[in-house]
Amino acid sequence: MNAIVAEVARRGRLSFAEFMELALYHPSAGYYTRRRSGPGPAGRAGDFLTAPTTSPIFSRTLAEILAQLAAALGEPIIMVELGAGEGILLEGVLVQLGDRRGDVLRRVVAVEAAEWARSRIVRRCRGVETEARLSDARWPDGPVVLFASEYYDALAVHRITARADSGGVALAEYYVEHDGGTGLRWTLGEPSTPKILEYLAEHGVALVDGQVAEIRPQARSVHAGHLRWCGLDAVALVLDYGYPGRRLYDARARRGGSLVGYRAHALVDNVLGDPGEVDITAHVNFDDLENAAADANWERGIIRALGSFLTVHNALSLLPGAVARGEPLTPEEWAQLAAAKRLLLPTGMGADLKVLAQGRGRAWQAYLQLATAPPAEA
Ligand SMILES: C[S@@+](CC[C@H](N)C(=O)[O-])C[C@H]1O[C@@H](n2cnc3c(N)ncnc32)[C@H](O)[C@@H]1O
Repeated sequence: MNAIVAEVARRGRLSFAEFMELALYHPSAGYYTRRRSGPGPAGRAGDFLTAPTTSPIFSRTLAEILAQLAAALGEPIIMVELGAGEGILLEGVLVQLGDRRGDVLRRVVAVEAAEWARSRIVRRCRGVETEARLSDARWPDGPVVLFASEYYDALAVHRITARADSGGVALAEYYVEHDGGTGLRWTLGEPSTPKILEYLAEHGVALVDGQVAEIRPQARSVHAGHLRWCGLDAVALVLDYGYPGRRLYDARARRGGSLVGYRAHALVDNVLGDPGEVDITAHVNFDDLENAAADANWERGIIRALGSFLTVHNALSLLPGAVARGEPLTPEEWAQLAAAKRLLLPTGMGADLKVLAQGRGRAWQAYLQLATAPPAEA
C-alpha cells in the first residue's frame, strides 16, 4: 500500500490540512521531501513550472534589483530564499551577478524542507548556506532581502464548504479517511478547530450554499515570523498564486475553491489519488501576508502581477541583445524569448502570478525608489 495511504489508515480520519502536510512533507514519502535521484518537482522535466524554472529572466531581474539595492544602501545584502527548491533561482542570481557578487551579497541562505534539494543547492551554488528552517539560520548582520516563490501556496490548507440548512448556512470541513481498500476518500464533518470560524469572521467571509473554499489560518503568523527574523532593514518579495480575500472567496469567481494537484504538467482534480506523487496547491490569500506585515511593523506592501513587476524592474533590458537591436534571432534566442514572454505578457503566468513587495527601514525606502523610478537611460 502507498505509505501515505497506510499512514492515514493508521491515524484514522485526518483534516485535509493534516493530510496535505503528510502528502507533501512526510519524511520519506512526501511529494517534496521523499528522496529523488532524477528531476525535481519544479521545471520542464518535473510536474509544474514556476517563474524561476520557466525563464532566467526572473533570476536576472532579481539579481539586478539586489545590485541596485546594495548600491543604494552602500553595503552588501543578505539574501534569503524560502522554499528554495533545488536552487535554480539562486544559481541564476549568482551567475547574473558574476564578479559583482562580493559587492552585492554579504551571504545567501537557502531555506528548504527537502534534504535532497538542499544537497543540490550546495552543489549548484557554491557558498550558499542551507537550512531546513529560517529560525535556524544565522541572525542577520546587515540588510536582508527575503524572497519566496510558490512557498506559501505549498503550505497546508483546511478545506471547507457551506450547506444551506433551516437555520441559514452551516459550515462543514472536509476530512480524508482510508476507503477500506488501497485508496482514500473524502468525508465531511464539523470544523476541526475554532480557528476556521475565527478566520472567516475576521476576514468577513460568508460562503454561499455549496461553495467550497480553502483557508490557511497559520499563514499570517508564519509570514510575520519570517519578517521579524529579518530585523529592521529589509525587503520581502513574495511570488505566488493568489488574490486578496474579497476576490479569493468571491463565489461568483471561485465557487469550487482553488485546490488542485499537478503531475507531469497536467492538472489533477483528485488530490487524494497517489499521494506523494502529486503536487498539491491552493491559492494564497494575500490579505494574510499583508496583515502579517502590519503585525511585524512592516509596510503592508505593493502587489503587482508578475509581468508588470518584471517590466517595472526593467526586465526587458535583459532579453537577448539581438531583440533590442532588431537583428535575426538564433533558434536558441527564440526559445529564450518565448520562455521570457510567458512571464512578461499579461496572460497566463505573467498575470496569474503576483509579486508582493513589503519592507522596512532604509532597504524599503531604497526599494521604493527602484520600483517607481523610470529605468536609467541605456
Ligand atoms: C512549489 S515548490 C517551489 C520551489 C522554488 N521556489 C521554485 O519556485 O521553483 C515549494 C518549495 O518550498 C519548500 N517548502 C515548503 N514548505 C517549507 C517549509 N516550511 N520550510 C522549508 N521549505 C519548505 C518545498 O519543499 C518546495 O521545495
